[in-house]
Amino acid sequence: MVQVKIEKAKIDQKQTSLLVIGVFENEQDFSQSKELDPAVFASIKETLDNKEFRGTSGSSVLIYTLGKGPMKKIMLLGLGKREKFTDEVARICAGKAAQKAKELGAKEFSILQFSNLDEGLVEAMTEGVTLALYSFDKYKAAEDGKAKIEEVSILINSDSPKFQSIADRADLVVRAVNFARDIGNLPPNDCAPAQLASTALSLAQEYGMKARVIDRYELENMGMGGIVAVGKGSNNPPKLIILEYTGAAGDQKPYLLVGKAVTFDTGGISIKPGEKMDEMKFDKCGGCTVLAVMRAVASMKLAVNVIGIVPSVENMPSSTSYRPGDIIKMYSGKTVEVLNTDAEGRMILADALAYGIATYSPKAVIDLATLTGAAIIALGANVAALVGTNKQLADRLRKLSDRTGEKMWELPLYDEFHEQIKSAYADIRNIGGRPGGAITAAAFLSNFVSDVPWVHIDIAGTAWTQDGTYERSYNPKGATGFGVRTLVKLLMEDEKQP
Ligand code: BES
Ligand code: MN
Ligand code: ZN
Repeated sequence: MVQVKIEKAKIDQKQTSLLVIGVFENEQDFSQSKELDPAVFASIKETLDNKEFRGTSGSSVLIYTLGKGPMKKIMLLGLGKREKFTDEVARICAGKAAQKAKELGAKEFSILQFSNLDEGLVEAMTEGVTLALYSFDKYKAAEDGKAKIEEVSILINSDSPKFQSIADRADLVVRAVNFARDIGNLPPNDCAPAQLASTALSLAQEYGMKARVIDRYELENMGMGGIVAVGKGSNNPPKLIILEYTGAAGDQKPYLLVGKAVTFDTGGISIKPGEKMDEMKFDKCGGCTVLAVMRAVASMKLAVNVIGIVPSVENMPSSTSYRPGDIIKMYSGKTVEVLNTDAEGRMILADALAYGIATYSPKAVIDLATLTGAAIIALGANVAALVGTNKQLADRLRKLSDRTGEKMWELPLYDEFHEQIKSAYADIRNIGGRPGGAITAAAFLSNFVSDVPWVHIDIAGTAWTQDGTYERSYNPKGATGFGVRTLVKLLMEDEKQP
């Protein structure tokens, strides 16, 4: 991955192939230029005066310096209106700069700090660059002669070393996000539950975490009826993946993170229509996010305890599949009437949640899942749905999501929603009808979390770029790694004040 260096440097001193300078919309004064060679300054001034470039968000213009200065080219990059500038805008603009530099075939480039220096700005600019340069090319022939960007310098007006450590920390988090993307993007023929489990085991080995993978027969013996039922229809057996990271004293209660990893969701006997079914390879993204958060906290050596549990299955139709009408006894002892085999995510999460809570007595539980199409109907493809039993935890996540750009909005879990999942023949049923589908799915899960603070994040719309996804420089096509940055922030906050 690209290296980000934070340097104190004046803009007329940095030897670089490309210097990116952010310009706010309709701010033509451009005070920095006074340090540039007069000819280069004149050229920039001309561009600005002519209004060929106004600094609108996303626009850019290239200026060749023709040997008059240490930079070969300058790119003016529009930052949009100053009043609207946020860390998220910085992330998007830095990502755009990286994309353009890549198109230009640069091996290295530099960016001037976009706005007033603070930690959030340096973090966002680092993230924007490193997230945008991600690409999934494992299955493509190498394009020869194409340079890769190896180094990016962010030029700032301070020599405090703290900014480099901010960038280094952001780099570790982005490596984890890109890890989530790498496994999220894998095609389903190369990522069945067994492969996901072995990826998790190598991860644990590399970062010194405890790991355990529970196989099909053991799951059966343990009474994990939900995971076994969904896994039955496939020749690729289910796995329950557990990672334990201990960064704080052993007696400190851990966070429990649970992520849905359906490596391919055909719907099972209640089979899905064919259109876009290929996208159901992304139905493992909740699990990928959880594995990635474990990687991030371990690589950053955060002083917190975290357990990651990833139930993984392939949901297939076959003569051994579970069926509509089946009544399944879950790990918790509750019975579930299956009315649609396509509502499989909640079946596997229910067992993972109940098992995790019984085994680890966590202080809080967060699950992530591409759980319902209804979450996309409710909030679109750019906002994840938060539903939970703990106001404080939900509020914390929602507020952090404003900073990370991983947008989340809370939906209410009113008691009435439980009516919709009552069953005639079992304790509950696995679907609640169309109205409020994202909430009834959460109501189902709430049956398996006892009274531990719990928040569920439905990432059906945000886990990969899909119909309705806003184009964002730092989210290239495919899996986004949604949730990793926000959850790491939450755990970092906790490290400071447990
Ligand atoms: N993985 C899907 C949800 C999904 C659908 C995510 C489309 C992203 C895009 C989930 O397993 C599912 O099929 N849910 C059903 C639930 C229904 C049967 C109650 C759905 O949303 O249609
Ligand atoms: Mn499904
Ligand atoms: Zn699914």
